[in-house]
Amino acid sequence: MSLTLRVYVPSHPLIKHWLSVARDESTPTVLFRSAMTELGRWLTYEATRDWLPTTESEVQTPLAPCPATFIDPEVPIVVVPILRAGLALLDGAQALLPLASIYHVGLVRNEETLEASCYLNKLPEQMPPGTRVLVTDPMLATGGSSHSLLKLLVERGVDPSLIRIVAVVAAPQALQLLGADFPALSIFTAAIDEGLNDRGYIVPGLGDAGDRTFGT
Ligand code: PRP
Ligand code: URA
Repeated sequence: MSLTLRVYVPSHPLIKHWLSVARDESTPTVLFRSAMTELGRWLTYEATRDWLPTTESEVQTPLAPCPATFIDPEVPIVVVPILRAGLALLDGAQALLPLASIYHVGLVRNEETLEASCYLNKLPEQMPPGTRVLVTDPMLATGGSSHSLLKLLVERGVDPSLIRIVAVVAAPQALQLLGADFPALSIFTAAIDEGLNDRGYIVPGLGDAGDRTFGT
């Protein structure tokens, strides 16, 4: 069976609203951070719909026994924010996944070559089979940063079909790269933009997500 990358752009007014706030160059840092938190929350909500494992049991209501569905506590759930800017989406993701383990990975693009290099890797050497991994990275530009992280995850035994990337803006170049090497992956993003400028920034995009999040 051949697989094709799945890219979801949820049509939700809250996602559209907070994306517009984040895109606006006049949005100050404090509000930009709020927008990213909200986008992290709502995109995670969409991304976890058919991904969170559940288990069936029964509860006793005050009136009668009743079939019940719970999140399966036995299946490992992991969130990996790509530093720095992925941290901006983490609060929103964690609000919905309070029991997830968080493994930080720091990746930075070289401003000339646009190649990503890893300066921090807190991933365990191996992940248990069946581990669900949610990656947060607001910008998928060339796709180099997220591609590097996916390689690290697959090397540690993660099944790409159990990985979801939550992004804010994706460029076609990133979707092409990720789709070619990780066709089983799913991406949830607030927008797919036109492309990249000659400095590798997404156009129209929202500028430098890390700098706007941290006021640098
Ligand atoms: C930005 C952004 C993504 C990456 C996307 O990070 O947060 O991680 O670029 O670009 P790519 O798809 O071309 O790899 P940056 O390297 O600027 O680091 P920062 O988050 O610390 O600002
Ligand atoms: N990283 C960003 O922060 N913004 C872009 O547009 C591209 C990469």
